[in-house]
Amino acid sequence: MKFFIDTANLEDIKEANDLGILDGVTTNPSLMAKEGITGADNILAHYIKICELVDGDVSAEVISTDFEGMVAEGEKLAALHPQIVVKIPMIKDGIKACKYFSDKGIRTNVTLVFSVGQALLAAKAGATYVSPFLGRLDDICTDGMGLIAEIRQVYDNYDFKTQILSASVRNTMHVINCAKVGSDVMTGPLSSITGLLKHPLTDSGLAQFLADYQKGNS
Ligand code: E4P
Repeated sequence: MKFFIDTANLEDIKEANDLGILDGVTTNPSLMAKEGITGADNILAHYIKICELVDGDVSAEVISTDFEGMVAEGEKLAALHPQIVVKIPMIKDGIKACKYFSDKGIRTNVTLVFSVGQALLAAKAGATYVSPFLGRLDDICTDGMGLIAEIRQVYDNYDFKTQILSASVRNTMHVINCAKVGSDVMTGPLSSITGLLKHPLTDSGLAQFLADYQKGNS
């Protein structure tokens, strides 16, 4: 399973990347705003900074909601850097734009997906990635992981090449369960990645090994 980090924070991206296991980055307009990145030129420049930090796919989201606007914005984003993946909302014109980009060889990530039907449409439109929002479904007492498993089954039934990018991951158990159900990619905050490192038996075991070494070598 590929690990993407879901942030526009350059420090967090660098920390995850330094582990050597990072495969890409996802952003959205809210994450850019959280870092205080505003204004078209600053936003584009920030995407380039992210691409230069990480050797992997970087999702950059369009703001337009009509076909022509999404095409114009997406082409501009795709031309920024070869690592850019154009992120498109799961709406009618978004599906049309996804098919347009897919026919032109521009890679896409269809976002804000909350049902199998939406994921099926994204795959048929040739999306590179589909982003079901696991955490936001869990937030409203709906089985987010169940949706990931159902999309896996449907995509496998028809050998769709669209990669399932489990988004809105909030914690380490989300990451582990994504891997169990066969998600191709997960994207989450830095804590969902570094949290996987932790186990008290690792800490106590290491402390014991080091103490025993000191006893025999001092
Ligand atoms: C990433 O592609 C999504 O925009 C993101 O994972 C949404 O996460 P949130 O539900 O934590 O805002």
